[in-house]
Amino acid sequence: MLAQYIADRSHAVNKSLQQYLALSDVPAGLLEAMSYSIEAGGKRLRPILVLAVLDAFGKPYEMGLAIACAVEMIHTYSLIHDDLPAMDNDDFRRGRPTNHKVYGEAMAILAGDALLTQAFETLCEAERAGVPAGDVLRISREMAVYAGPKGMVGGQVADMEGENRTLTLGELQYIHRHKTGDLLVFCVRAGAIAAGATPHQLAALTRYGEHIGLAFQVKDDILDVAGDEAKLGKPVGSDEKSHKSTYPSLLGMERSKEVLSHSVSEAKKALREAGLANDAVLAELAAYIMERDH
Ligand code: IPE
Ligand code: IPE
Ligand code: MG
Ligand code: MG
Ligand code: MG
Repeated sequence: MLAQYIADRSHAVNKSLQQYLALSDVPAGLLEAMSYSIEAGGKRLRPILVLAVLDAFGKPYEMGLAIACAVEMIHTYSLIHDDLPAMDNDDFRRGRPTNHKVYGEAMAILAGDALLTQAFETLCEAERAGVPAGDVLRISREMAVYAGPKGMVGGQVADMEGENRTLTLGELQYIHRHKTGDLLVFCVRAGAIAAGATPHQLAALTRYGEHIGLAFQVKDDILDVAGDEAKLGKPVGSDEKSHKSTYPSLLGMERSKEVLSHSVSEAKKALREAGLANDAVLAELAAYIMERDH
């Protein structure tokens, strides 16, 4: 059931991404580098979250496609930059050589910059899909906050500065909350704002997003130790190679799995508090984050 939902919504997202990236009057090499990483695929979890929240409110998911594509552009830029030699220095991503391996570092940096900027133009298209302009403005501001220095970029900096030393659990929580959690929280909030959520629903869904955000990165850390490279489409052992503290390195594998399953239960609890009519997919997505193998 969930697999079919993910396949259907991914298909819609991929079609829209193609449309939003059919840009004219752009240097061909830049467009190729941007499309290379977007079209490599990926789970599309962030766009699916935006659409699943709209579905949970009984709203047409099409309203959220521009927001969904915008967040996937931001996510993809973050992966291109995360893989650069100056950052995690990884050679594979989404089952393909990383962007800089194919196009060189300068173009990979610029392709990331371009996707980040294009995301804001794409987000503005939400108005055409029926999201009121005031809500588009609010969502746009939140995208900047959750993806920017107070959010994902701040988390990436803390992650980088934490290399080569053993962090406290509090420091690691800060990193995970921001480098990964914030973009997932944004997805849930953006879908909820577009759907016209009440303040109570928005607060409960924000907590759901925070818990799945932590769960998602704890699982990412676990897969970096115990995952299968062929399934992941990216290298295992990247964290150890860069001397990063992770949940498994600080707490061990068993405790990490406990944190993961606790976060997923807390996410489901917060979801129930939101009291949405059709929340089954959002509950299944929380479980999927724990069980995924890629
Ligand atoms: C990987 O994200 C980067 C993290 C924030 C952990 P995903 O595991 O969602 O990567 P894709 O989009 O499926 O490639
Ligand atoms: C990446 O975290 C987070 C962002 C890209 C913002 P990781 O460095 O753990 O992600 P992977 O394992 O390379 O996908
Ligand atoms: Mg990283
Ligand atoms: Mg990385
Ligand atoms: Mg990782």
